Amino acid sequence: MAGTTAVPAAKDMDQQHFEPRITAFVCNWCTYTGADLAGTSRLQMAPNVRIIRLPCTGRIDPLFVLKAFERGADAVIVSGCHPADCHYNAGNYHARRRFALFRDLIEFIGIDPRRVTVSWVSASEGNKWRDVVNRATATARDLGPFNDYRELAGRVPCAS
Ligand code: FES
Repeated sequence: MAGTTAVPAAKDMDQQHFEPRITAFVCNWCTYTGADLAGTSRLQMAPNVRIIRLPCTGRIDPLFVLKAFERGADAVIVSGCHPADCHYNAGNYHARRRFALFRDLIEFIGIDPRRVTVSWVSASEGNKWRDVVNRATATARDLGPFNDYRELAGRVPCAS
């Protein structure tokens, strides 16, 4: 048909220029140091991740993740020491159980669980951190912008 051109829908246009915003909650002792190693080793990785450093994954409250989504994150990474390597003995075991349940909860409230990555990255695993970041960024890019976050405050019970 002459004279007709396909005009991309606004959603497709958004998708084309979409740069995911990813918040990473990491433990101070392993993943933060691994991320630092990735940086000092000049490993190429997606620049989409902002890191929030906490003492241990055991300190990462799932509400932090919901808050991140509420404030505009398109994906979240939670990462810490490998099982049996936690500097506080069992913090990562608690986190592992907590986030296994949290996955079901976020699916229930309408958040695609692929938006949350849980990983274990040691201080010597700069390459692994790069891979986690690149994979989470690619997944978030595929899923598209998470525009529902504004509604989250009304959907989840708030601790006051
Ligand atoms: Fe790293 Fe506990 S200190 S997970």
